[in-house]
Amino acid sequence: MTMPDLHPDGFARLPMLLDALARFSAPGAGVTRLVYDEHWCEAQVWVRAQARALGLQATADAAGNLYLHSESVQPGAEVVLVGSHLDTVRHGGAYDGGYGAMAGLLLAAAHAGQPGTPVVGFITCEEEQSRFDSHMMGARSMLGIVEDAELDSVRDGEGVTWRQALQAIRASGHAAAPVAGGLCAPLFTPRAQFELHIEQGPVLESAGEAIGVVAHIAGYRRLRATLTGAPRHSGTTPLAARRDALAGAAEVILAAEALARASGEPARVSCGRVIAAPGLYNVVAGRSELALEVRHDRVEQLDALEAALLDHCDTIAMRRALAFTHERVAEQAPTALSPALVRMAAALANEHGVAHRIMTSGAAHDTMEFARAGIPALMLFVPSRDGISHSPDEFTGAAQLQAGVCFASDLLTRITAGGAW
Ligand code: GLV
Ligand code: MN
Ligand code: MN
Repeated sequence: MTMPDLHPDGFARLPMLLDALARFSAPGAGVTRLVYDEHWCEAQVWVRAQARALGLQATADAAGNLYLHSESVQPGAEVVLVGSHLDTVRHGGAYDGGYGAMAGLLLAAAHAGQPGTPVVGFITCEEEQSRFDSHMMGARSMLGIVEDAELDSVRDGEGVTWRQALQAIRASGHAAAPVAGGLCAPLFTPRAQFELHIEQGPVLESAGEAIGVVAHIAGYRRLRATLTGAPRHSGTTPLAARRDALAGAAEVILAAEALARASGEPARVSCGRVIAAPGLYNVVAGRSELALEVRHDRVEQLDALEAALLDHCDTIAMRRALAFTHERVAEQAPTALSPALVRMAAALANEHGVAHRIMTSGAAHDTMEFARAGIPALMLFVPSRDGISHSPDEFTGAAQLQAGVCFASDLLTRITAGGAW
């Protein structure tokens, strides 16, 4: 790959920035930085300082998303947005979100003052659904598609509403005032959007490839499912008389796994959490709540997986005399990214002899929201060691991280030049 003048140092400071960002975390293994928590707020202040040190302004919107831009790029301007998210899963890694966010910062700085469409870095406040029962709060607010009512309906596990959480961080300067009738209006006019990310799976590493050009992203449905039985004394209640909501949940979890196996690649069916009540040694569980998720890259298969999973839940509940209810708490449709940008990235890789593939992402990303809003959108992946992600063991080597940003920089030069793509 060439190293043109735009990135003479090969973005050498990127791994150092990622290490520094990872220190903004709750205690415990890996990185835990939930939207608007103290660690997220400190990280946001640090990012703003990094931007200033690189000659950029950091402008926060009313959700706490950041735009990293030259002073000369005025609100409303047509720009190319490049970045990722600042929040993490609980006990996640340093690279998911962090990589694209720091790459966006460096790319915006490297391309400042260059001819063509200006490059603006973006850092969304939330993507992971780790704190609030919502989805892609950052990207959706950036796009101006969050209605005022959602600020009261979306709550975290402690019952804090999105509006209350925002009021608290607004008071300390981490978010701007909301716009009339909603939360945010887009600050710029995106001519294109793109996100650099670790792959989070094993494909690139296994194939020895440097770059994944993402053409399509799998969708998901997330269901909060509740089984209700009867809490009874565990020492005196005969097995035949039990309506055990936790045993029912165990059956649902195994049925979910069997469904994924029977459906074959790339179907995914998972249960990420069970909360049993009353949660004691000596009481048969009277209630259990499951966090169920199905994923697929085709919408018909997503529909079929969701329907089959719900059928299993109904059957298991009926056999065990449990009541079953469910609520879909989040969804993402499988989403195609810009074919023109995919072609442009693949052509660049071919010209420079970069080992690459055009691929589908199994993980969901902010970029889905931009693409569905009609903005030409693209993602580039770099390899993940052993395909591990959403784990403290997430890792990508410095050379691979830098190769990704150098490639992205060359691609940005083509995108910003305009033309007929
Ligand atoms: C995002 O990380 C997701 O795929 O859930
Ligand atoms: Mn991510
Ligand atoms: Mn993630």
